[in-house]
Amino acid sequence: MLKVGITGSSSSGLAKSIIEKVEGDIKSNTCNCYSKTTGYNLDFIDLDKFVEEIKYLDVFINFYKGKNFFQSKLLYKLWRKWTIMKKNNNLIIVFGPSEVENMIQESSTDITNLNESRLTYYLDKVALKKLTVELQKRKGNHPKILYLQLGAINGVYTKDKIPEAHVADIVKVLFDQYYASESIINSITLNPCI
Ligand SMILES: NC(=O)c1ccc[n+]([C@@H]2O[C@H](COP(=O)([O-])OP(=O)(O)OC[C@H]3O[C@@H](n4cnc5c(N)ncnc54)[C@H](OP(=O)(O)O)[C@@H]3O)[C@@H](O)[C@H]2O)c1
Repeated sequence: MLKVGITGSSSSGLAKSIIEKVEGDIKSNTCNCYSKTTGYNLDFIDLDKFVEEIKYLDVFINFYKGKNFFQSKLLYKLWRKWTIMKKNNNLIIVFGPSEVENMIQESSTDITNLNESRLTYYLDKVALKKLTVELQKRKGNHPKILYLQLGAINGVYTKDKIPEAHVADIVKVLFDQYYASESIINSITLNPCI
């Protein structure tokens, strides 16, 4: 049985679908949710204290995008904490958008056309991707990081969106694979059919 945490709500949306899958029908894993619903407004949290609170977990799903490099700062602080604690079997799952690859690799996104909120989102996610890759390269005893890159998601199936249930299924498969295998999946990209 794994102790899992997620920065998301068990009451609605993609986080809910993921939590249900990860816990399973017989609650074979437990999942603690950290979001406004459970009294955690992560926009105003002391991250060092938060990491102290979640350090006992086995798996952390770094889901809520937050502001001002929130996801990157959380990733780095938890990775350092688990490194010091020698928790090299622990896993951090990081959520990001698949477009970030294009932005880094091909410069296909004209960032000058983005409004401030989209620009901030992209820059946050570029930093997150870069940090993830750098931490994954570190040799020695460190927690593992799995980066999940997604195209647009929707509650219901449409051809240009990935259904939430499918994302949740994939997270569960990756989860099970991680603990059953000697190999590591560093990143995976899911895109809609068209
Ligand atoms: N949506 C997409 O199409 C899409 C596509 C690609 C990648 N992604 C990635 O998937 C992740 C989730 O995206 P999302 O679109 O679902 O939106 P999101 O706003 O990043 O996440 C929503 C979740 O965060 C919680 N939340 C919102 N504000 C919060 C706050 N101030 N403090 C604590 N928790 C808060 C919500 O629960 P409460 O209401 O209980 O606070 C909810 O469960 C992100 O990392 C995003 O980059 C999403």
